[in-house]
Amino acid sequence: MSLSEPQLSVGQISNRLSSEPLLSFQQVSHQFQGQTALSGINLQVYPGDRLALVGPSGAGKSTLLRLLNGSLSPSQGSIQVLGRDFNQISNRQRRKLQRQIGTIYQQFNLINSLRVIHNVNAGNLGRWSLPKAILSLAIPQEVAAAQAVLTQVGIPEKIFERTDQLSGGQQQRVAIARVLTQNPQVILADEPIASLDPERSREIMELLTQLCASPNTGKGRALVVSLHDLEMARDWCDRIIGLRNGQICFDCATAELENHQLESLYQIGSSSI
Ligand SMILES: Nc1ncnc2c1ncn2[C@@H]1O[C@H](COP(=O)(O)OP(=O)(O)OP(=O)(O)O)[C@@H](O)[C@H]1O
Ligand SMILES: [Mg+2]
Repeated sequence: MSLSEPQLSVGQISNRLSSEPLLSFQQVSHQFQGQTALSGINLQVYPGDRLALVGPSGAGKSTLLRLLNGSLSPSQGSIQVLGRDFNQISNRQRRKLQRQIGTIYQQFNLINSLRVIHNVNAGNLGRWSLPKAILSLAIPQEVAAAQAVLTQVGIPEKIFERTDQLSGGQQQRVAIARVLTQNPQVILADEPIASLDPERSREIMELLTQLCASPNTGKGRALVVSLHDLEMARDWCDRIIGLRNGQICFDCATAELENHQLESLYQIGSSSI
């Protein structure tokens, strides 16, 4: 298999034939202070993809996610977001496109001292005027919409609680509700379950994959999630990319992934998987 031709399932092939990529990388590389973090990355993310990024620590997963959401610019290569070249558009157009990409982090990145509704409404900041955003801190705006996304993530009753009084799993749900408020076409998640127990991890993965791929709620969305837990990657994602030393070692449908590919990714014995 050539590195630029992923092994796809039948569903993934029909997805690609019927839609344009949401995100596309051509020969993307990135160096930090002269040290290569990623090199020669070719990658397309399509609507409906549930894509896991796996690989050892330092492989470049977080760097790839930061390039995908535009918070980092590539040292070389080109990136298209919804068909537009990220480096050939104005800052205003770039910010508009970035609103189509929502990111969830391992540490949730919430403002703990605020009530849940304010963290959820932070997903509106790209489209609200500054006066409305400031007013909302005193008198919460669009409460019904916030309530609706909190219902989607299963914690509607927490809307007026202080965020730091929620459990880790509940806080991750608030972070997901904030991204849903933003209503992006791509959801990126960097180790979203790393600090959760196995049961909460499973619930969060179920929620993320439902929101991205269910015909009722997530049509057209894509999920790209970095994971250290290979079992979760296999259980919840239908495409897996293996990164090692800043390069893609494999990009294939989960059903096609073979144990030896994971073994060489981590250079471990077959009994460990
Ligand atoms: N801000 C930075 N400044 C300098 N080097 C960095 C920076 N961020 C990442 N790197 C380097 O880039 C490489 C890739 O790091 P990255 O964080 O993307 O790996 P990762 O696969 O996400 O690892 P982990 O599984 O531990 O989160 C590493 O060698 C890392 O040290
Ligand atoms: Mg990382």
